[in-house]
Amino acid sequence: MKEKVEALKTEISKFIATKNDELEAFRLKFISRKSVIGDLFTDMKNVAKEDRKEMGLQLNELKTHAQDKFKELIESIEKRIHVESDTQIDLTLPPIPDTLGSLHPLSITKKRMLEIFERIGFNVSTGPEIEDDWHNFTALNFPENHPAREMQDTFFIEKNPDIALRTHTSSVQVRVMENQKPPIRTLSPGRVFRNEAISVRAHCIFHQVEGLYVDKNVSFADLKHTMLYFAREFFGKDTKIRLRPSYFPFTEPSAELDISCFICNQKGCKICKHTGWVEIGGCGMVDPNVLKNCNIDSDEFTGYAFGMGIERVTMLKYQINDIRLFTENDIRFLRQFKSVN
Ligand code: DAH
Repeated sequence: MKEKVEALKTEISKFIATKNDELEAFRLKFISRKSVIGDLFTDMKNVAKEDRKEMGLQLNELKTHAQDKFKELIESIEKRIHVESDTQIDLTLPPIPDTLGSLHPLSITKKRMLEIFERIGFNVSTGPEIEDDWHNFTALNFPENHPAREMQDTFFIEKNPDIALRTHTSSVQVRVMENQKPPIRTLSPGRVFRNEAISVRAHCIFHQVEGLYVDKNVSFADLKHTMLYFAREFFGKDTKIRLRPSYFPFTEPSAELDISCFICNQKGCKICKHTGWVEIGGCGMVDPNVLKNCNIDSDEFTGYAFGMGIERVTMLKYQINDIRLFTENDIRFLRQFKSVN
């Protein structure tokens, strides 16, 4: 038995394992319950009593020796796998393509618009896309059966003509004024719906950012300067603005907001139809009737409001000539807008 132990000790010391199956062979032969060492422990009962203690010590030593060697083999195999995988990197392979997504151009514009107004104290409000007549029309001073309602071709819900898809986010302004006391300085970005034929210039679903400021002594000069501030921040510091008289039921006076054409520097081009100016939205002083409808004292408070189409502003800024591109999800189009934050 003594010789057997010595022979096994040497065999264990010399054992080399480079692969997992060799490691497993070692385990089966020297570590497992049915290993040769295990057999030797069983044979102990045949050892003469006076030698038993000595043999026991030797066997335990052999067992520890096998276990240490097993650990060593595991470590050396792990190291080898590591080194091999490192040296197996093929530096001539083409790189893995950049699969990072990017923001949709409309999201980039919306984010930028909100940032610009947030810097001068505006917060953001949201409201439902399915709206009632009061919030979309009546509270905004659209009299019943007034032709102004037809300015905005509305999608009504068939079973209940009092409910419609909102045609503008001015409806959110009503909700804010009903629920908050002035001073109010808020933006309402969101999706709006109009029953229009889809073309290069128009879509039945699009997005707006509207703004509302109600406080004591808010004047048309405040509105004008805020619009100039926005135009310069968004389109560039040399941008000029022009306000053209217009009509909206909810503002009086009302104006159409134009910016100087930054594409041709007002020399005249296709985009500005050779006028030097492009329209980006509507604005005006909140009609006192609207304030009254929302329980705000129109003798004490005044306000201005404005509304811009996100598609329109994005098309101008990036010179995109077809509104349908925004909803086609063509990756070749979307990939051109790289901002990811
Ligand atoms: N709601 C208008 C529209 O969708 C845009 C607009 C014009 C909004 C003037 C306003 C405003 O808040 O003051 O055509």
